[in-house]
Amino acid sequence: MQFTTASLALLGLASAAPTLKTRTTSTSPTFNLMYQSVGNAPEPVDALNKGTWYVSASNGKAVLSSYASRGLLYKYGTGPRIAQASVGLTITPGGTATVPSGKPIEFVNNNGTAPVDIHLNASGVPTLWYDGGHFQACKGDGEEIYLSYVQPGQRFLAACAAVELQSVCSTSGTGEPMKGQLGAIQDVACVELSI
Ligand SMILES: *[C@@H]1O[C@H](CO)[C@@H](O)[C@H](O)[C@H]1NC(C)=O
Ligand SMILES: *[C@@H]1O[C@H](CO)[C@@H](O)[C@H](O)[C@H]1NC(C)=O
Repeated sequence: MQFTTASLALLGLASAAPTLKTRTTSTSPTFNLMYQSVGNAPEPVDALNKGTWYVSASNGKAVLSSYASRGLLYKYGTGPRIAQASVGLTITPGGTATVPSGKPIEFVNNNGTAPVDIHLNASGVPTLWYDGGHFQACKGDGEEIYLSYVQPGQRFLAACAAVELQSVCSTSGTGEPMKGQLGAIQDVACVELSI
């Protein structure tokens, strides 16, 4: 069999991108927050050493869970703020200059913390941002793995994993702009995943 120029070009593309997932950065009024394992989670949260995890609300906390229970999020207001349905993402910084409090990030029935936003990180990946700090995932009661905030200058807690939360464009749902009462939903930068 003889390859044509066109079929050779296709083979070239296939070998350059062997993975099934392709990504482009786009924008969307609704999004999910995703954590992809980087393999450095310590023992209490070593479940995070494989797979892909999504932020959802559980008993008022922001937790990492499966794709099936991912929370549909949106950004609103001039703060801006981020919410799921009528509950705002609430971040309470704390601890000392070098050690974070480990307090859970919450989804509570209020306007949420401002400004919480999606920013492009230094690699151009849209990620959850608050006040120049970082996020960690820690083991809670039972099996839950909850998120907490690490201020600039603070270290990650030894029992927790550093996590970066990527904004993924949602393909379903429209958000609930009137529930937040803070105005219209704003588009966020997000990664489009296709399998
Ligand atoms: C940006 O975020 C992605 C996804 O979390 C991560 O792989 C990458 O290392 C980040 N880039 C920088 C410079 O932090
Ligand atoms: C939430 O935001 C609305 C609109 O800006 C404001 O009227 C209300 O007082 C806020 N609620 C709280 C608890 O801050």
